[in-house]
Amino acid sequence: MSSKDPQSSPTADQASGATGSGLDDALAAADALQADIEAYAIDSADALEAFRIRFIGSKGLVKGLMGRMKDVPGPERKAFGQRVNAVKQSAEKRFEEAKTGLVQQEASAGPDVDLSLPPAAPRVGSRHPINIIRQRIVEAFARIGFAVEEGPEIEDDWHNFTAMGTPEHHPARDMQDTFYIAGHPDRVLRTHTSPVQARVMESRKPPIRIIAPGRTYRNETISARAHCVFHQVEGLYVDENVSFADLKQTIDYFAKTMFGEDTETRLRPSYFPFTEPSAEVDVTCLICSGKGCSVCKHTGWVEIMGCGMVDPDVFENCGVDAERYTGFAFGMGIERIAMLVYRIDDIRLFTENDALFLEQFRSES
Ligand code: DAH
Repeated sequence: MSSKDPQSSPTADQASGATGSGLDDALAAADALQADIEAYAIDSADALEAFRIRFIGSKGLVKGLMGRMKDVPGPERKAFGQRVNAVKQSAEKRFEEAKTGLVQQEASAGPDVDLSLPPAAPRVGSRHPINIIRQRIVEAFARIGFAVEEGPEIEDDWHNFTAMGTPEHHPARDMQDTFYIAGHPDRVLRTHTSPVQARVMESRKPPIRIIAPGRTYRNETISARAHCVFHQVEGLYVDENVSFADLKQTIDYFAKTMFGEDTETRLRPSYFPFTEPSAEVDVTCLICSGKGCSVCKHTGWVEIMGCGMVDPDVFENCGVDAERYTGFAFGMGIERIAMLVYRIDDIRLFTENDALFLEQFRSES
C-alpha cells in the first residue's frame, strides 16, 4: 500500500510496524504519524483519496498505530489510546477541510475560457454568383421601369410552346430537348422563361413592361458549356408604338450597365418562333475588348441574348390586340452572363457546391 504512495515516509510506516517496544516507541510513532498527516500535500481529488486510504482507511496508518496498543504496558494504555484518538481526529479534520477546500476551489475556477482573447470572427457566407448576376440584371431593368414577374417551373404545353408560336411537331418540342412530366403528356419542365410572357399578356392589358427571371430545364448532356438546369431572364415590353429602335436602345442601355460604358452592341438577324423580326445580340468581348481572344473565338464579339418584336400571332394567342399594340421581347441565360462577367469557363461549377469556388464571390455579397 504505502510503496505506491509517492508521499509515503519510512517514519510514518513505522506506525504499523512491530519493531518498536513500549510506550515511548508507540508515542514516537504517533508523533511521526501526526507530523505526516499535517505535512501531506492535498492539492487534488486524487491526492485527497490517497490521503484517505493512507491514513484513515480500514488498512490505514491510524489503524496500524492502534495495533501497537499490545506493545504498551497495561497502566499506560489509556493515555496511549487517547493519543491515537487525537491522531485519528486530526487526520479526519484534515480530510474534511481539504475536501471543502477542493470543492470551493473548483466552484470559483469557472469555465476554462480565456476572456482576454479577441472574439473569433464569424464565418460569413457568400451569395451564389448566379444570384448576384440575376440581381444585377433585375436592378438594371428596374431602373427603366421593368417589374419582376414569375411563372411556374412545371409549365403546360400551351404556355411553353403553342402560345409562343411553337406548334406541335416543331423540332423544339422534341423529346430529346424537353423534360415531360411522367403521366402528364401536357406538362413539361419549362424549357425557357418565355411562357411567362404569355401568362402576363393573358392576365392583363398593356402597357406591360416586365422581366421574368427563373430556372429553366432542358434535356441536355451536361458538359462545360451546357447543363440540364439553368437560369434565364425574359423581358417583355408591350404598348402602343413600341419600335425596334426602342428594343435596340434598351438592349444597349442594359449592355453598358452590365458590362461597362465602353461596351458596344450589335444585332444579328436570327429566328425565334415568337418574334418577327428576330435578332441575336452580341456585345464587344469583355475579355479582349474586341481585339480577339479564345472566349470570343477571335471575332471580338460574344453573344448574350436573343430578342425581337413580338409576333402578332403570339399577341393573338394571348388576347392582345395586335392592331393596336406592338412590343419587343428578349431572353438571356444568366449562367452565360455570369461566365462572361467572372471569366468562368465551366458551367458545372455553378452546381457543384465547391466552397473554394463559391467563397470567391464573398466580397460581392
Ligand atoms: N426563349 C429563347 C431561348 O430560350 C430566348 C429568347 C429569344 C427569348 C428571343 C425571347 C426572345 O423573348 O425574343 O433560347
